[in-house]
Amino acid sequence: MTPPVTRREARAAHLFTAPPAPARHARARRAARLGVVFAAVAGIALVVGGAAAVTSALTAAGPVRDERLAAAPTPSATPVPLPQAVEAIPAPSVALAPAIVDLCGIPAFTDALAAGDDAAAIAAAGGAEAFRTSVSAGAAGCVSLSDPGRVWVVVNKLRPFDPVDHQPSSLARPPVREISTANLRPDAAAALSDMFAAASAAGAGELGLDSGYRSYRTQRTTYQRLVSVKGVQGADMVSARPGFSEHQSGLAADVTACSPGCVGLEAFAGTTQQQWIAAHAWEFGWIVRYEAECTSITGYSPEPWHLRYIGRELAAAYHAGGWRTLEEFFGLPPAPSYAD
Ligand code: DAL
Ligand code: ZN
Repeated sequence: MTPPVTRREARAAHLFTAPPAPARHARARRAARLGVVFAAVAGIALVVGGAAAVTSALTAAGPVRDERLAAAPTPSATPVPLPQAVEAIPAPSVALAPAIVDLCGIPAFTDALAAGDDAAAIAAAGGAEAFRTSVSAGAAGCVSLSDPGRVWVVVNKLRPFDPVDHQPSSLARPPVREISTANLRPDAAAALSDMFAAASAAGAGELGLDSGYRSYRTQRTTYQRLVSVKGVQGADMVSARPGFSEHQSGLAADVTACSPGCVGLEAFAGTTQQQWIAAHAWEFGWIVRYEAECTSITGYSPEPWHLRYIGRELAAAYHAGGWRTLEEFFGLPPAPSYAD
């Protein structure tokens, strides 16, 4: 078999043989990377410093005072071989961060924004990482992370829809297996369909769509039902209040494993389908929105089934940066609970 050559192929090759390494928050990853740099620098300093100390001890100490050393035989004329370098010290590489740019001063960017073309706007910004860098630095006043018509909208417990009963301008029913009838925004619907087909072609099994767009009224019913079962605190961990759910944007999908039969959302974790989604959803513009260990930022218990469409460009940058929450990705404050 030809060995894997790209990161993606390498991940695919390991998908069903080894569990994925526990992901870390991006900050921790960067701290670890910095740690490696500091360790390398410190190591070099120690080696250089240590050598300097020995040299200075030998040169400054004057005549040898230890009699055992003084009695040692005179070194022969045979040259002592110098130690060979066993391995070159790897030069730490730090990726250059894109510059913070006032995106709203770039005509191609504002034109794309005005035309409602999110992908073109991201391209005009210099790519998704450049877009993210400037937006999270507050250098893009014309970009609203609250605009529910944009793929970059962020909805959380501190960021309700405005208006609170917002409805997407267009919805489509993706041609996928449904647990119950579900619609998504057309771009998200097409990407979901492509993703399900790719999972199946990769041998990961069949996926099904359990829930897509939910109106303000539907979310209110869902939330109230959960409150009656779990109480407000319990419901708030698993369901958004009406006006606060990503499902209302048409950009969120709850998916589950459907081969041989469809399992409930709670049984999705650990299936081959879930593992494939965790590794590959970003390639289709989707991210797992509520990951384990992120509750203090998202305010929700882990939901490996709840996917959020942010478009292929942003999802690739999200994946490449090791981000685990949209809040951190865009430099927004954590939203563990509601303001009131
Ligand atoms: N279950 C997610 C948090 C929602 O209700 O939108
Ligand atoms: Zn959901």
